[in-house]
Amino acid sequence: MDPQRAARFPFVPGDTPIVIDRTEDVWLVTGDGRRILDAGGGAIVTNIGHGRPEIARVAAEALGRIDYVVPVWATEARVSLVEELVDHWLPDGFTRCAFVSGGSESVDLAVRVARTHHLSAGRSSRWKVIGRDVAYHGSTLSGLSVGAHDRRRSGLEPMLTDLPKSPWLDPDALAKVIEFEGPETIAAFIGEPITGAAGGAMVPPEDYWPAVEEVCRRHEILLIVDEVMTGLGRTGLNWGHQHWGIKPDLIVAGKGLSGGYAPMGGVYATDDVVAPIAEAGAGTMYYTFAGHDLGCAISLEVLRIMRVEGLVERAASIGALLRHRLDEELGDHPHVADIRGRGLLLGIELAADRNTGRPFPRADEMATQVVGAALDRGLWVYPAGSGPVDDAVLIGPPFTITEEHVELIVSGLRDAIDAAVG
Ligand SMILES: Cc1ncc(COP(=O)(O)O)c(C=O)c1O
Repeated sequence: MDPQRAARFPFVPGDTPIVIDRTEDVWLVTGDGRRILDAGGGAIVTNIGHGRPEIARVAAEALGRIDYVVPVWATEARVSLVEELVDHWLPDGFTRCAFVSGGSESVDLAVRVARTHHLSAGRSSRWKVIGRDVAYHGSTLSGLSVGAHDRRRSGLEPMLTDLPKSPWLDPDALAKVIEFEGPETIAAFIGEPITGAAGGAMVPPEDYWPAVEEVCRRHEILLIVDEVMTGLGRTGLNWGHQHWGIKPDLIVAGKGLSGGYAPMGGVYATDDVVAPIAEAGAGTMYYTFAGHDLGCAISLEVLRIMRVEGLVERAASIGALLRHRLDEELGDHPHVADIRGRGLLLGIELAADRNTGRPFPRADEMATQVVGAALDRGLWVYPAGSGPVDDAVLIGPPFTITEEHVELIVSGLRDAIDAAVG
């Protein structure tokens, strides 16, 4: 494509965007025929791989039958997706599903459900949702309010609700925040099991999530796990929170639900969360495109493919190999401060000095430079980091990658980091 035409696409004019002509297997193919290995799975989305003919067939059939139906009516695809999730994916006790168009909408809806739950049960003083510092929960004003991603909140702070935050890796901190705020004012706590975009796949200490679960239970605070990035097999288990054996009240998901073939997200709840809302005859307003039939049909097929092909187990096994090879090749690199994550959600934290943890100057935008250098070498990885983790890259490829792709990711990243740091 003529670069001048491509430059018309960004809302804010700037660099001419890369033009992708088509997607195949684990590859992004540019307009000028270059093949880029999609080790970021787009934005940690692609799980079953690109260009699956089964999905194109299902999508054509779905659109041939139904286009738009208001979100509250049932269709075969909507009901089948609920059945697939409840029967095969969600933890025991999770029976209620609400489908939306992405991760930010899922978080926004979950926050509204938490408030409506308490209001319906007569606990009208409970409205605050405690988040974590550091965290990313999407770019709506509610998502930015419960989140703490300094780059993405920057400048918008006056428009955001000032909600309490608990330090992200301290298992004792939440109890103190609740005490300070007054438990009777708290509706919910929200956290990513493994902090993705804001923390470069930061895994909390082993005692963190059990401590959070205990204190939430003690104070009747709903526990929301934001699994937009970690959910649906990405970390090698169905859900990221299952690495810690905890039982949340609400799960929020997105990204992998449709494998990137349609804009989809979801909120999943236990009967106990929804029962007071039903008894009060209350509800939550829908988004016009919530639970779009096409997205539901596609998501159903994506989940079916993952089950039939054992792709969650594959994410665990190939993820372990990728992690092992990253440790071998980059574990001693002078500018790699940490390699972490679970399954196929892995992060590399970059530092000017790995021994002291001294970061690169923020103005250097080192993560962005590494991503650019990787792209020059035919590799896409996802830039991440905020606050204390200023520069990180996320690796979240399709679950279908092979040992050969693992080697391309490791060598491409090593060369990219060396080139970027000079
Ligand atoms: C944990 C988490 N929550 C919410 C979101 C927002 O999702 P979306 O970009 O689909 O709106 C993201 C996106 O990266 C995320 O990682």
